[in-house]
Amino acid sequence: MGQHALIVGASSGIGAALAREMAFEGYDVGLIARRTDRLAEVAERVRARGGVAAYRAADVNDPEQLQAAITALEEVLGPVEVLIANAGIGENTDAANLDLAHVRRVLRTNLEGVVLAIGAVLPAMTRRGHGRIAAVSSIAGMRPIPQIAAYGASKAGVSAFLEGLRADLRGTGVTVTDLCPGYVRTDMLKVEGALPPFTMEADDTARRMVRALLAGRDSLVFPWPLALASRLAALLPDALLGPVLRRLAPKPPPALPG
Ligand SMILES: NC(=O)c1ccc[n+]([C@@H]2O[C@H](COP(=O)([O-])OP(=O)(O)OC[C@H]3O[C@@H](n4cnc5c(N)ncnc54)[C@H](OP(=O)(O)O)[C@@H]3O)[C@@H](O)[C@H]2O)c1
Repeated sequence: MGQHALIVGASSGIGAALAREMAFEGYDVGLIARRTDRLAEVAERVRARGGVAAYRAADVNDPEQLQAAITALEEVLGPVEVLIANAGIGENTDAANLDLAHVRRVLRTNLEGVVLAIGAVLPAMTRRGHGRIAAVSSIAGMRPIPQIAAYGASKAGVSAFLEGLRADLRGTGVTVTDLCPGYVRTDMLKVEGALPPFTMEADDTARRMVRALLAGRDSLVFPWPLALASRLAALLPDALLGPVLRRLAPKPPPALPG
């Protein structure tokens, strides 16, 4: 029996690709998301290639449901050795008509959902003295850009949380990896016409993520041209960068962030 890699947000896109990739690396994969039919398909594809997969439905906004799903998967696959907290939603924010329910939904799903998943597995990892924690943040968390205030805040929060955990967990045997992709072609990327620059495929994205987290890297920010642009942009004042970003911002229907 392989070690248990738990992927939260495994029913589509990057999460489904991460499940296939971790199974390819020899892990038994535990899968969590809300859509059971899609989880069943992902599990079936893993098993068709000789892998081991189990799944449970849970909403990351419901702490008891999430904990129950993780406990049930650990009963089948053993203690979680690798957690990838990937669940997220990519709704855009209309700043002029700020909808607080929307902002809270994005923050709860993308940030609190990651925190809850980590909280459910971390104590056992530190007791055992080994384990790998990773979460899928985004380049969008590095520099606020138009239309995605809530999404950008949630991802900046994820990256900051992971950075803090990593500092505290050094020497415990538990690694913490922050995965920050640019644009990836998934259901979340609702764009009409041309894809955004440097858009990546989910399979390639997952492969690179798995390599980074199994190597225990602190972070993976990619592809490099967007990573470099974001790092430079983070140094520029809004007076300089703001007009450029606003001109580049997609018109409705809006593009979701990388
Ligand atoms: N696509 C991009 O360009 C891009 C770029 C940077 C970062 N990301 C991040 O990558 C991650 C995966 O996104 P994706 O692009 O692969 O989009 P996706 O195909 O829409 O996948 C989102 C995943 O999150 C799960 N999820 C969403 N809300 C959930 C909830 N309340 N409870 C449990 N699971 C939930 C979804 O499952 P259910 O709907 O079945 O619950 C699905 O498995 C997200 O965190 C996203 O922010 C994406």
